[in-house]
Amino acid sequence: MAAGLGTRMKSNLAKVLHNLDGRPLINHVCETALTLRPQKIYIVVGHQSEDVQAAVLAENDADLVGFAVQKQQLGTGDAVNAARELLENSDSTLLVLSGDVPMIRAETLSALVQKHNEHHGRGAACTVLTVRLKDPTGYGRVVRGENGVFERIVEQKDAGDDEKQIDEINSGIYCFDTRKLFAALSQVGNDNAQGEYYLTDVPRILRDQGDDVAIFLCDDPREVEGVNDRRQLAEMEKVIRRAVVSRLMLESGVTFIDPKAAYISGRSTVGRDTVIHPNVTVEGNSVIGEGCVIRQGTRIVNSTIGNGVEIRDNCFITDSTVGDKCTVGPMAHLRGHAVMMEGSKVGNFVELKKTTLGKSSKASHLTYLGDATIGENTNIGAGTITCNYDGKNKHETHIGNNVKIGSDTMLVAPIKVGDGAVTGAGSVVTKDIEANTLVAGVPARKIKDVLAQIADKTKGDK
Ligand code: UD1
Ligand code: MG
Repeated sequence: MAAGLGTRMKSNLAKVLHNLDGRPLINHVCETALTLRPQKIYIVVGHQSEDVQAAVLAENDADLVGFAVQKQQLGTGDAVNAARELLENSDSTLLVLSGDVPMIRAETLSALVQKHNEHHGRGAACTVLTVRLKDPTGYGRVVRGENGVFERIVEQKDAGDDEKQIDEINSGIYCFDTRKLFAALSQVGNDNAQGEYYLTDVPRILRDQGDDVAIFLCDDPREVEGVNDRRQLAEMEKVIRRAVVSRLMLESGVTFIDPKAAYISGRSTVGRDTVIHPNVTVEGNSVIGEGCVIRQGTRIVNSTIGNGVEIRDNCFITDSTVGDKCTVGPMAHLRGHAVMMEGSKVGNFVELKKTTLGKSSKASHLTYLGDATIGENTNIGAGTITCNYDGKNKHETHIGNNVKIGSDTMLVAPIKVGDGAVTGAGSVVTKDIEANTLVAGVPARKIKDVLAQIADKTKGDK
């Protein structure tokens, strides 16, 4: 169920699209559901349905997911009813999950399904996943009858004072006999405090007609916590973040200077003996190698960092690859599949976009390198810019090995700079430079042959 707006979020964005650990809530639930290998999962969408569908399809195989549209959000019972045509005639077990209960583990769901199928040796018509909470405020309470059997679920807003004392709550997760669910759903009305069609009435209807309704009491309250407001979302984020950081410390051997001030996504990995300073953010599927130092204020998104890399303060690295033993920053920006080969260096106020910087090459200060490939042992002087955009199209720059680009050189792309070439400070290079040639000026022209210069010099020395 993912059709609600989530009024309590006080947001223009549908609740299930809010991010937890960098991904929409709905995708956490889909991922867990799919690990159970169901025939298919159906997502009930309503508010911002196209965006919710797009978010789901961005992470999941279209063959495994289907959508049912709930036009008006008339309650959780109505939400499931939106999938009636898709499901009502199927002889199956239907697991109903809430898009706003993202921490549930697959193991717990498997145990729920097992209990459902084995209840009284013949299986139940419905099994409700419940948990006891210190503070059950806001949740539906589970009323048990004699011998602890299921009687009904009463929502917070409909509960009397006695019922509000009950600490066992409905998680919003259930297993149903599909046919029995849809038959009972037809009898659900909306005569309640919220004027909604409650899915929670279905187990009571089933019980009243003599069907078995089982309860599966889960012992970890955190798993079934719902996200209803931003405070709960922030709490959950904190729990996940702490778990990730502590796993990295205990299992991967990572040092955090201040574990509370590190933001590492659950899908990223960090290697042994890497030291992470405060306020470092690692997002998406990033891979950070061993023995690295990452200084404060750096953000790394969907990038791969090799071993022994030093990333100095306040860098932003996205969709890029940094090879072993590189140095980055402070205040460097790598994006658009930038690649730094082994031992290369990028210094302060340097931006690399869709650019490969070769082995042991350096761009140490104040430089923009876009759509460029740069060979090995090349030095890019301070203030160099690849002028890659003519207002309409992007053009490439190719720089060879052992090149020395003088300070403040403008390389007007498309352009090729041969191996061993040199540019004078302030050159505006508009034509390809042959290997081992020194050019200078505006526009740059050939001054001399670098190798001849070396030969002259050696002669002079004699
Ligand atoms: C629901 C349960 C409550 C339970 C709690 C657990 C009902 C009536 N109540 O309350 O017993 O303790 O979950 O978290 O079911 N949704 C739709 N369409 C709608 C309404 C809701 O798709 O018309 C979706 C929402 O997007 C959300 C989920 O159903 O993902 C739960 O809805 P929500 O409004 O959060 O229900 P709760 O008040 O939390
Ligand atoms: Mg809820």
